[in-house]
Amino acid sequence: MGQNLFDISGKVALITGGSRGIGLMIARGYVEAGAKVYISSRNAASCELAAHELSRLGKCIALPADLSKLAEVERIAATLATQESALHVLVNNAGTAWGSSIDAFPEKGWNKVMDLNLKSPFFLLQKLLPLLESAGRAGDPARVINLGSVDGLHMPLFENFSYAASKAAIHHLTRMLSSHLAHRHINVNAIAPGYFDTDMTQPMLDSMGLDKLMSIVPQRRMGLGDDIAGVAIFLAARASSYITGTTLPVDGGIIGNS
Ligand SMILES: NC(=O)c1ccc[n+]([C@@H]2O[C@H](COP(=O)([O-])OP(=O)(O)OC[C@H]3O[C@@H](n4cnc5c(N)ncnc54)[C@H](OP(=O)(O)O)[C@@H]3O)[C@@H](O)[C@H]2O)c1
Repeated sequence: MGQNLFDISGKVALITGGSRGIGLMIARGYVEAGAKVYISSRNAASCELAAHELSRLGKCIALPADLSKLAEVERIAATLATQESALHVLVNNAGTAWGSSIDAFPEKGWNKVMDLNLKSPFFLLQKLLPLLESAGRAGDPARVINLGSVDGLHMPLFENFSYAASKAAIHHLTRMLSSHLAHRHINVNAIAPGYFDTDMTQPMLDSMGLDKLMSIVPQRRMGLGDDIAGVAIFLAARASSYITGTTLPVDGGIIGNS
């Protein structure tokens, strides 16, 4: 691995939910920076297609799986172990949301969100610990990057009870895991995105409109691919070796302003 503080070339990364949205933005950034990137999502065809497209720029391999299920988490961890002897970066990005008033909120909307946003990152990390430990060094630890949300840090605009709670919980789990894994040379950090133009944001754009939604963003714009990829590259690179347990808002100033 190179001397450049921000060089991630040659690192092996797994990005969950890497077939579209923020996961794809990070995957593209990593592939362009010379990392070998595995992406995972439920829809095998779109996962393969995204990996095929990114393979034009570098190394990208599809590992389709429904990560809300523990058996699938175990399966892709075992599959990865047959392909790689070390995993430098795990990006727990796959996520889902559910919007409903408190009176109508169904149990399904609670379990679906908690299983994918909170349970899956914990157990995927647990199953991948041997590969992460193989990659980690004191001067350049292995990295776990959890995707949280500004909705886990401030009062959300929408009635997304399980989602906001899952994101606050992943921020706290990030701190706790960082403390337990520091001596094993594994850093655990979280990114809390603001608004990025993805399928998940579409219902908010539809109900509020872009101008109204952007009125709470000091920079008055949505996040772009480079905004999230840049931070994800930093958190995977030697430059951030001494940062663990933190949650970094990438939000055009929403949290700083609230
Ligand atoms: N977009 C934003 O503005 C924003 C803001 C704050 C936080 N975030 C967080 O950032 C992360 C990515 O969000 P996004 O907006 O990019 O979401 P998105 O556009 O809905 O994409 C979600 C990704 O996760 C995959 N996925 C969904 N369910 C899965 C499952 N059960 N197993 C495996 N993969 C699954 C999807 O592919 P398949 O459907 O094929 O499985 C897709 O690749 C999430 O954790 C989200 O909470 C996003």
